[in-house]
Amino acid sequence: MERQKFGSRLGFILVSAGCAIGLGNVWKFPYLCGEYGGAAFIVIYLAFLLLLGIPILVCEFSIGRGSGKSVAASFEKLEPSGTRWHWMKWIGIVGCYLLMMFYTMVGGWMLYYCWRSIRGDFVQASTEMVTGAFNSMLGDAGTMVFWTLLVCVLGFAVCAMGLNNGIEKASKFMMSALLVIMLVLAIHSVTMEGAEAGLRFYLIPDFEKMVENGIGNVVFGALSQSFFTLSIGIGAMMIFGSYMPKNRTLAGEAINITILDTSVALMAGFIIIPACFAFGIEPGAGPSLVFITLPNIFAQIAGGRIWSALFFLFLFFAALTTIIAVFENLIAIKIDLFGWSRKKSVIVCAAAIIILSMPAVLGYNVLSGIAPLGEGTTIMDFEDFIVSNNLLPLGSLGYVLFCTRKNGWGWMNFQKEANEGEGFHFPAGLKWYVSWCVPVIIMIIYLKGYYDMFKGGSTPRLVFWMAVALCMLAYVIISAAGKPRIRVKNRKG
Ligand code: PHE
Repeated sequence: MERQKFGSRLGFILVSAGCAIGLGNVWKFPYLCGEYGGAAFIVIYLAFLLLLGIPILVCEFSIGRGSGKSVAASFEKLEPSGTRWHWMKWIGIVGCYLLMMFYTMVGGWMLYYCWRSIRGDFVQASTEMVTGAFNSMLGDAGTMVFWTLLVCVLGFAVCAMGLNNGIEKASKFMMSALLVIMLVLAIHSVTMEGAEAGLRFYLIPDFEKMVENGIGNVVFGALSQSFFTLSIGIGAMMIFGSYMPKNRTLAGEAINITILDTSVALMAGFIIIPACFAFGIEPGAGPSLVFITLPNIFAQIAGGRIWSALFFLFLFFAALTTIIAVFENLIAIKIDLFGWSRKKSVIVCAAAIIILSMPAVLGYNVLSGIAPLGEGTTIMDFEDFIVSNNLLPLGSLGYVLFCTRKNGWGWMNFQKEANEGEGFHFPAGLKWYVSWCVPVIIMIIYLKGYYDMFKGGSTPRLVFWMAVALCMLAYVIISAAGKPRIRVKNRKG
C-alpha cells in the first residue's frame, strides 16, 4: 500500500508543530520555569534546544523518512542484519502509551476549565477560590473520568478520519487560532499592574537560585523539557517524517518547527509568570499553575468569561493536536506491526488508552494513597518521570547512535536522507560533535540528574534508583552494540 502523504508543506509543518506544541509549552514549561527559578532555567533550556534538540529531531525525521515506517518497523527496515537496533522500538511504543496515560487527563482539565468558564464559575472569584476549585476538581473522580474519556473519544474520532481529512485539516485550523490568541494575551499580561517583578524573574537569570535548587536537578529538568517540547525520543515525530515528501531538507523543517515551538512556550511564560506575581501566586505551584493563574487574569478583564472560555479552548486545541499526533502513531504502529486495518487499529487503541488513562486520573482521588516517587507525589508524576526524564533522553540517545555508528544506519545514509530536497543542509562538519559530544552529554546529564534527584533520601533508595537508571541506559547500549552479520559473498569455484 502506498503510504499516505501530506497534502501540502504547510500541512506537514503545522501537523509536526502541532505534535510539538502542546501541554509541554502551555502547561509544563511555565510551571517548570516557576519551579526551577525562572530565567536561568530558560537559558539552559534554550541551549539544549539548539545543541541537542535540533540535531536529534533531524535524526528522528531522517529515520522516519528513510524507512517510510513508524518506530515499530523503521529500525528493522534500516538496520544492518544481525544488529539489535530494533529493540529501540519498545522505548517508542511504551513511551507513546505512557505519555498518553496522563496527557489525555491534563487535556481533559483544559476542556473542563473551558466549560467552567462558560458556566461563569470564576466570575469575581478570589485567588483562594480559584485555587480551591482546582483541588476540588482533582478530588472528584467522576468529573475527572468524564473529561478524560471525552478527550480520548474526540482524539480518536479525528484519527478515524485519516491523515489528510482529519489530522491535517484540524491541526491547521487549531494551530493558527492558538497563535493569535496567545499573542493578544501575552501583551495584556505583560502590561498588567504588578507585572514587573514577574518579568524580572522571567527575564533576568539568577544563577544563585539555580544552585539552591541543585544544578543537576535544574539541568536534568531543562534537558528533559527540551526533549519533551520537541516530542523527540519516542518516535512521535518519526511518523511524520515517514509521511513527508522528499522535496525539502529535514534540517530546515526541524529548525522551523523548533522556532514555532519555542515561540509558543516563551509566550505562555509571558502570559503566566507575570500574572503569578501580580496576583501573589507562588510560581513554584507545580502542575496547577496554569489553572490558578489564568482564571485570575480573566476575572479582571471585561468580558473575561468569554475570553477565558476561548483561551482554555485553544489550550485544549494545542493539547488535542499533540494527542491526535500520538494517537496516529499508536494506530500506525499497530498497522505496521500486525497489518491491521485503520478502523480496527483505532478501536483497539481507543479501548487501550481509555483503560490505561485511569491510574493517573484516579491517582488524585481514589488512589491518592499511592506515592510512587515519595511523599506528595502522584501516579501522574511517576508516569511523567518515566517518559520525560527517562524514555525521551534514552530514545534520543538511541536515534543519534543509530544515525552515526557504522554498525547502525551510519552517518552517510543519515546525511543523504537529511539533506535531500531544498533548504538548509545539515552541516557535514558536525559529524564528530553529533557522534560523540551529543551522546556523552545526554548520558552525563541523565546519570547526574538521577543522582541529584534521589540523593536527598535514604541510601537504599538512592541505590535503587541509580540501579534503575543504569539498567535503562544499559538497554540502549546493548541495543546499539550489536555486530552486523558479515555477508559472505557467493564466490563460485
Ligand atoms: N511535545 C509535546 C508537548 O509539548 C509532548 C510530546 C512529547 C508529544 C513526546 C509527543 C512525544 O506537549
